[in-house]
Amino acid sequence: MGCVKLVLFFMLYTFLCQLVFSSALPHLCPEDQAHALLQFKHMFTFNPNASDICGFPSPKTLSWNKSTDCCSWDGVHCEEMTGQVIELDLLCRGLQGKFHPNNSLFQLSNLKWLDLSYNNFYGSLISPKFGELSSLTHLDLSHSSFTGLIPAEISHLSKLYVLRIRSDDPYWLRVGPYNFDLLLKNLTQLRQLDLDSVNISSTIPLNFSSYLTTLPSQKEFSNFPTWNTFLYLTIP
Ligand SMILES: *[C@@H]1O[C@H](CO)[C@@H](O)[C@H](O)[C@H]1NC(C)=O
Ligand SMILES: *[C@@H]1O[C@H](CO)[C@@H](O)[C@H](O)[C@H]1NC(C)=O
Ligand SMILES: *[C@@H]1O[C@H](CO)[C@@H](O)[C@H](O)[C@H]1NC(C)=O
Ligand SMILES: *[C@@H]1O[C@H](CO)[C@@H](O)[C@H](O)[C@H]1NC(C)=O
Ligand SMILES: *[C@@H]1O[C@H](CO)[C@@H](O)[C@H](O)[C@H]1NC(C)=O
Ligand SMILES: *[C@@H]1O[C@H](CO)[C@@H](O)[C@H](O)[C@H]1NC(C)=O
Repeated sequence: MGCVKLVLFFMLYTFLCQLVFSSALPHLCPEDQAHALLQFKHMFTFNPNASDICGFPSPKTLSWNKSTDCCSWDGVHCEEMTGQVIELDLLCRGLQGKFHPNNSLFQLSNLKWLDLSYNNFYGSLISPKFGELSSLTHLDLSHSSFTGLIPAEISHLSKLYVLRIRSDDPYWLRVGPYNFDLLLKNLTQLRQLDLDSVNISSTIPLNFSSYLTTLPSQKEFSNFPTWNTFLYLTIP
């Protein structure tokens, strides 16, 4: 009998603990990161036509606001224990505007997953600051109208598993002469590399697929080592 009481007591105790704990921590998301996200939101306008592939996206990003925990915002994921923002999934969000190097997103230094594809950052350069997000394992900047040289700093992201920078037009994005080599040599965890319609001016080594992490059975790639590169590699 005493034993049952004891068990009941512990069940009640843990229940109360959880209650107190969860009400004491209503906002898991660190304030500076919520602030950075709100700043990010204000740097862009919403245009449902920003990318014609997306249909008509709903302005969910725009519902980000201070009255709720940023970990519950659409497209934002936090690490459970620490509340740090680790994932930002902004694919097809109708974001439109210039992506300046002072973008507050670069303050989110714990990001592991970043998807900015299918928005419209018309004519923005890919900032070398992407190379400072050193925890990234997944980076997708495809079809968002970035232009210019893909910065060599991308090869600092040595934890990258997936790198996708597809361009709409081979005249828009380039990889510099030695940078493709750098990417292959430094991104040792890479499983998927997608640079469709990016102008790769360096010679692509014939054995380039062996640089991608070689666990499994199947490698799939198409390779036209000229300026109009279609390069898509994946190791499932
Ligand atoms: C988006 O496209 C639709 C249909 O083409 C058009 O009616 C609408 O005005 C456009 N909206 C914006 C914000 O450009
Ligand atoms: C704040 O965000 C919540 C959840 O997304 C939403 O329901 C609410 O309407 C928003 N408030 C404002 C003032 O935008
Ligand atoms: C960021 O840089 C751009 C271009 O240099 C500038 O127009 C803008 O005001 C800056 N924004 C902030 C918040 O500093
Ligand atoms: C390769 O990755 C390491 C570790 O992130 C970094 O320190 C180094 O600068 C990178 N080298 C190049 C050439 O990008
Ligand atoms: C690709 O880059 C090379 C070297 O920078 C340049 O000569 C060529 O015109 C570029 N091709 C396109 C389609 O932009
Ligand atoms: C690819 O070939 C080059 C020279 O032909 C060699 O130095 C390099 O080690 C090879 N890389 C891999 C991953 O097999």
